[in-house]
Formats: sequence, structure tokens, C-alpha cells
Amino acid sequence: MKINKATKNNIEIAATRILNGGIVAFPTETVYGLGALASHKKAIDRVFSVKGRPKNNPLIVHVHSIQQALSLVRINNNIIPIMKNFWPGPLTLVMNYNLSSSIHKIARANLNTIAIRIPSNPIAVELLKKIKVPIIAPSANTSEHLSPTSAKHVNHDLGKKLKDSIDMILDGGNCKIGIESTVIDITKKQPVVLRPGGLNIKKIEKYLKNIESIRMENNSKPISPGQFKKHYSPKSFLRLNAKSPLKNEAWLGFGPDSKNLDCKFKMNLSKKSDLDEAAMNLFSMLRTLDKKMVETIAVKTIPNEGIGLAINDRLIRGANK
Ligand code: TXA
Ligand code: MG
Repeated sequence: MKINKATKNNIEIAATRILNGGIVAFPTETVYGLGALASHKKAIDRVFSVKGRPKNNPLIVHVHSIQQALSLVRINNNIIPIMKNFWPGPLTLVMNYNLSSSIHKIARANLNTIAIRIPSNPIAVELLKKIKVPIIAPSANTSEHLSPTSAKHVNHDLGKKLKDSIDMILDGGNCKIGIESTVIDITKKQPVVLRPGGLNIKKIEKYLKNIESIRMENNSKPISPGQFKKHYSPKSFLRLNAKSPLKNEAWLGFGPDSKNLDCKFKMNLSKKSDLDEAAMNLFSMLRTLDKKMVETIAVKTIPNEGIGLAINDRLIRGANK
């Protein structure tokens, strides 16, 4: 499939295609999303089908303003400061759905809740403003595989399933954060983190008290399907918390590498031990190493703090075969 630079003109065309029922991959600050009208059954069906995503896994709705978000949900007013502080940005809130609004039940997987976010990437914002109505946008990858952080990744995964005549891939360069949004369910008394992600939970604790983090171990029946144990998987086996690589492995380092790494291929998430840089590189480097067809990718220990929590979450799930 052809990749189109996200020029003003192409964003305009992309908006029209979505309004006509097509599907468009576009950049956000986290990962690339696969956008379609949130009220359009046929388009939503196609999104599920090109991703190979099970229909019981609901899609995130993307909007351009808090006002637009508020029209879709039932919430109490003390949530509004959270929206004002963290939107646009890498936070997805799961809220009670306002049953009189137009998000198709297939997009919601028949749930009475709905996940919403406002992305901050200017291309995404411009697209959403042009479309005016809410769109759904799951990550633009094959279900269970690594999320895409470039237009090329999207094309690799979904290019053959999209149609040049009605769909589009918008290229806005590499995603700045590189890992998906933090998903928090605020429908119950106690807020629950369903997916650690681009927004550091510590930053939001000031506004949302007593947040609970769901742990994968006690999670055989996930309430957010992004919690399925196997997810974000490369084809190669991942050996986590490795100190050094074995000869026949690929190496994914973090922090300064020792001088004589004796292995097949090597990359480094961040030589200067910067977790933000590591998050930005994670999916892209895993894709590159995965292409080398090595049996195992050995990954250096990543500190479990800040966005490191999200990195480790994806690595642990990616290691589950
Ligand atoms: O950063 C992101 O969030 C990216 C970009 C494109 O915005 N999107 C993304 O979408 O990661 P997706 O569909 O790959 O992940 C959405 C996650 C899934 O784990 C899904 O199960 C969960 O949000 N989710 C959606 N609606 C939900 C709901 N009503 N209740 C619980 N979890 C929900
Ligand atoms: Mg996804």
C-alpha cells in the first residue's frame, strides 16, 4: 500500500476517507492508530478484521476536545481536572458510556463503558478536528504483535489488507513516546490502571487517589483485553533480565554496553540509560531484531520505574509464548 506524507492536503483527504467509511492509519505521540468512524459498523468490522482482533476487545475512541469526550460519557465533575491536566496526551480513561450517544456497540464490544483519549500529536489533532465526530483507533498492528511506531511498520503489518482507493496510511515520522497510552478505569470507586503506558502513574496520583494497579499474575480473566498475557509479541523468544548475550542470540542493551559483546546482532535501547529514549526505541528495535530470525533476543534489565514500568510490562507479555 502506498504511504502518504502527512501534508495538509493529505490530512484533508484522510479525513474525507474516514468520513466516507474508509480506514486510515495515522501517527499519534504514542503509536500509530488505525482510525475509522466510531458510528460506522462496516468500517469498524473492517478494523477488527484487518487487525485480526477478537471482537470482545473494545476499541479506544479518539476525540479532539474535552467537550466532545464529555458528550459520550456519564462522569462526576471531579474527573474534569484530570482531563484538563493530562489531555491531550498519553492517557486513556475508561468511563461509563452515555447510552444515547453514537459509538457503535461493536466498537465497545457491547460494554457499557468506553475508553477515550485525546492524542497530542498535531497530525492526529488536525485529522480529528477535520473529521469533527469521534473515531475509534486501536494500534495499527496485527493483533498480539508489536505496536507500530512508524508508517513503515503499519505498512508491513496491514498494507496488504488496506485499499489504496478508500483507505490511507499517513506518514508523520516516528512516534515520540513509542509506547501505548496508560489506560485507567475510573468507573468504580477505586481507579484501576488497566495498562501501564506513556503517562507516568505518579504524575496522576495527585489527582486520582488510591489508584490500584492490576497485576498480570492474578489476571486469568482480564477485564481489559490488553491485559491478555500474550501480547506485544515478537516472533523470536525474549530472554529478559539478561546480563549479557549468548553467542547465538541477538542483544538488546540498555545503558553502556560492554566492549566485546560476542553475539549475532546487537542494538541498544538507550546507551545513556534514558528510559524515555528506551520506550521510543522499544518496538522499533524489537521489530528490527525480530527480522534477523534469531531464536532468542536477550534483553538487558530495564529499571522498573517511570515509563520503565510500561516497557517491562510489554517485554513480559512479549516473552509469553
Ligand atoms: O496509545 C494508544 O492508546 C494507542 C493510540 C493509537 O492511541 N491505541 C491503542 O489502542 O493502544 P488498542 O486498541 O491497541 O488498545 C486499547 C486498550 C486495549 O487493551 C483494550 O482492551 C482497552 O484499551 N480498552 C478499550 N476499551 C475498554 C473498555 N471499555 N474497558 C476496558 N478496557 C478497554
Ligand atoms: Mg494494541
